[in-house]
Amino acid sequence: MRLVFTILLLSIISGCSVDPEIKPIIAADNIKEIIPDGWPTPYYNFSNNPLTPDGFILGRTLFYDPIFSSDNTISCGSCHQQFAAFANLAHDVSHGVNGLLGKRNTPALQNLNWNTSFAHDGGVTNLEFFPSVPITLPYEMNETINHVVLKISNSSKYKPLLIAAFGNDTVTSQRLFKALAQFTGTMYSFNSKYDQVKKGKDTYTPQEQIGYNLFVQKCATCHKEPLFSDYLFRNIGLSINPAYNDSGRAHITGNASDRFKFKTPSLRNIEKSAPYAHDGRYSSLTQLLSNHFTGTGGYAPTLDAQIQAGISLTTQEMNDIITFLNTLTDPTFLTDKRFSEN
Ligand code: HEC
Ligand code: HEC
Repeated sequence: MRLVFTILLLSIISGCSVDPEIKPIIAADNIKEIIPDGWPTPYYNFSNNPLTPDGFILGRTLFYDPIFSSDNTISCGSCHQQFAAFANLAHDVSHGVNGLLGKRNTPALQNLNWNTSFAHDGGVTNLEFFPSVPITLPYEMNETINHVVLKISNSSKYKPLLIAAFGNDTVTSQRLFKALAQFTGTMYSFNSKYDQVKKGKDTYTPQEQIGYNLFVQKCATCHKEPLFSDYLFRNIGLSINPAYNDSGRAHITGNASDRFKFKTPSLRNIEKSAPYAHDGRYSSLTQLLSNHFTGTGGYAPTLDAQIQAGISLTTQEMNDIITFLNTLTDPTFLTDKRFSEN
């Protein structure tokens, strides 16, 4: 009897802190691990972080809470915007606390469990550890993990959310990071027109088909289907930006052979995640494709062999490829209420 009362009381308390309209769409059958047909085994899975609606809700609340930043102004969601596939439409490089600029473009967040590493230089290999990077970077959230734990321990809003997710209201960085991984790790995007065509439920227009064929010939070795990335690091010959002099992968490994190599980004939802490249230097796909493969002006010693051999595209081919790339847009994902702020 007492147990029933406690459960009832808890659900009333937690009901208060979560939008009642959201609760039903975050039911258990809506929050689960997914491996779409024909996709490889994900690199991260939830075996050590059991996925639950309450864990997801805690992660979702944290993602949109500026409590992670030193002046309580910037949340993960300030930089990662859902309508842009959780990239950032407004800025070429990230804008953090006190208006400080980073040196890299905010990447899309989608199908993260298949990434073998995170960030443009792959500096973090575990999805659960990633949040410590933006939280502690002086030009992103400029906070300390201990202070975040303290702020959240003192927040009455989080007590019921923690109890629901973990059974008691103890705050540890590990719990916060696991909850965030439940939220970011279930950001699956697999409902684009491309996916429907693969399943035989839709067909390409003639131009999309031509674009797809060109894509398979010229792009798919690196932007490998179905994730549209091989998650490897490559130098595709972009000119070195003197403002940042960002050496990419070499920043992590210290190897000269990794200089100016960056992680191949997925191209899912690419239409929505401008600006492009690791420093957001291109504002459109046309601009990017006109410069992507010239192989001049970059750092020659580590230039990728495929780029050295040259990838030439006529203007018509470029347009065909872009028409195909637009079939990778997944409106279901971009408007999915489970991932939205409200
Ligand atoms: C100030 C803007 C900003 C904020 C705030 C921010 N991010 Fe990011 N995020 C970025 C940038 C920029 C990168 C790329 C970093 C790099 O390459 O060094 C990134 C990368 C990532 C990645 C890796 C994606 C990939 O494909 O490799 C994940 C995951 C991520 N952020 C999650 C989060 C979470 C969770 C939070 C909140 C705790 C957060 N971010 C807060 C800008 C931001
Ligand atoms: C040799 C491997 C390779 C090939 C081939 C290749 N790419 Fe890329 N692509 C990359 C890498 C690596 C990046 C990241 C560059 C950076 O951030 O500096 C990238 C970036 C991009 C981006 C920007 C993505 C973003 O989110 O910023 C687009 C779009 C893109 N490529 C499209 C294509 C198309 C279309 C083709 C074929 C015509 C192609 N790529 C061929 C490796 C490749």
